Amino acid sequence: MATKAAKPKVARPKVAKAKVAASPKGLRILMVASEAQPFSKTGGLADVVSSLPKALGRLGHDVTVITPRYRGAPDGPVAATVALEVAGHRFQARLLEHQIGPGARVLLLDCPELYDRAGIYYEAGVDYPDNPIRYAFLSAAAVDFAAQQTRPFDILHAHDWQAGLTPIYARALQHPSTPAPQHPSTVLTIHNLAYQGIFDKTWVPLLGLGWQDFTIDGFEFFDRLSFLKAGINAADALTTVSPTYADEIQRPEYGYRLDGVMRARHGRLTGILNGIDPDEWNPAADRFLPEPFDVDRLDAKAASKRALLECFGLAVTDESMARPIVGMVSRMVDQKGLDLIAAVQAQLAARDATFTIVGTGEPHYQDMWRRLSHWRPNRISAFIGFDEQRAHLVEAGADMFLMPSRFEPCGLNQMYSLRYGTVPVVRAVGGLVDTVRPYNPRNGQGNGFLFSEYEPGAMLRTLDEALAAFANKKIWSRLQKNGMRADYSWDRSAAEYVKIYERLRPARTTRRAPASKG
Ligand code: ADP
Ligand code: GLC
Repeated sequence: MATKAAKPKVARPKVAKAKVAASPKGLRILMVASEAQPFSKTGGLADVVSSLPKALGRLGHDVTVITPRYRGAPDGPVAATVALEVAGHRFQARLLEHQIGPGARVLLLDCPELYDRAGIYYEAGVDYPDNPIRYAFLSAAAVDFAAQQTRPFDILHAHDWQAGLTPIYARALQHPSTPAPQHPSTVLTIHNLAYQGIFDKTWVPLLGLGWQDFTIDGFEFFDRLSFLKAGINAADALTTVSPTYADEIQRPEYGYRLDGVMRARHGRLTGILNGIDPDEWNPAADRFLPEPFDVDRLDAKAASKRALLECFGLAVTDESMARPIVGMVSRMVDQKGLDLIAAVQAQLAARDATFTIVGTGEPHYQDMWRRLSHWRPNRISAFIGFDEQRAHLVEAGADMFLMPSRFEPCGLNQMYSLRYGTVPVVRAVGGLVDTVRPYNPRNGQGNGFLFSEYEPGAMLRTLDEALAAFANKKIWSRLQKNGMRADYSWDRSAAEYVKIYERLRPARTTRRAPASKG
């Protein structure tokens, strides 16, 4: 798997007004990623690449994110320019500045010949053949921008395979031939180990890489070039997006043939749970909802349920308002457990529930939902496509949220659901284990329903338990409130990233010493 199966959306940013200077003690961090909200998005990576920098900015650090300017993303003031040769061709780009919050800005890498296309990673189901160039250029441009700084960055933080070459290219920053040699430490965050960016080895010299690194401890992967492995082996520190996933990826079951590498590098690996962006996902102030609600005004959630039914073309009656709505917002791929649903689709569709689904992905899963919608038009409504408003309405208006993932590095939707009083029904895997606690009727603790075995019967039984609990209003409201009261903000997790950055600081200072002598 090289790229994610999801249609892109590109949107205009709400530009933050104030530009707040970071505290002098704050770190200077340069992030590199292939998507960032609100400029581009196919999945949770985009949410994190915008919400984490904002959280770090609030803590007094100074964060710049470099990400491609895909079709439809806005123009902006030019912060810098880069001109670099990749695969024998000279590419020029402008870096267009957008402040996204105090201490946090995005620089859109504007290189139309590489990024101004109909898709983000692919078109008509086929990956762009020049993806190695497009994403090598992203990392190389970020490193070139870092080299232009009079006040160097402390940390270069790359996300996922698309930015995997950043730690390797960053070695050039230490070279005496760099105008002002600098020694930023490098961090790589793995959002999903299943997507690795694997290409033919003929790319190695074309991308300015050296054959000396085409080894098992470098970026060689079964005689091919792996962008992700390059980053894993070259970065000073590695993180992934939940503690449970950090353990799982060291096992063959979840390691996607990189579990050995993860075991070898486990001393540098930390699992840090994602947070959610309070500006975007807050039922008390969500621009997509008809009426705000929160834990003390839970009755007002009914307005969102009504709006959800209307938006999905389902009748609003006393009956449909009383019947539980099961929601899903998901890339329609195997990772998300769509094959479990396919295996029991008829039984699922026969449950006394309404289903509202938003998603895009593999054609056979899209067709399955279309068929089910035709079969039971009053009970099942699926929107095939990428639609932010519908995603928010499902989170807010549904009663429960189904996420039967085969694997889930973190998962944001279950956290959004918890925040919106929509009870998650999930498989106990990855970040889902770290966020959803099973409901215990004896003491009223817990916030959702989990099943362990990756098996359709287990999913159905657990959904049935949730449907039974829904019938008891007292239990249900307890479950909802347990979920809504927890803290899903970035505050704690952003502080954990800072700890890692700070831990890398002494190494940087020692390495800096000889350079400063001359
Ligand atoms: P992943 O990144 O693996 O897809 P996450 O749960 O971390 O899973 O994040 C998915 C993000 O993408 C959420 O913000 C979710 O709302 C959004 N999303 C997924 N599919 C769609 C869609 N079809 N329309 C709108 N938003 C979507
Ligand atoms: C990936 C994972 C998802 C995670 C997201 C953000 O897309 O599949 O579980 O929440 O990245 O880190």
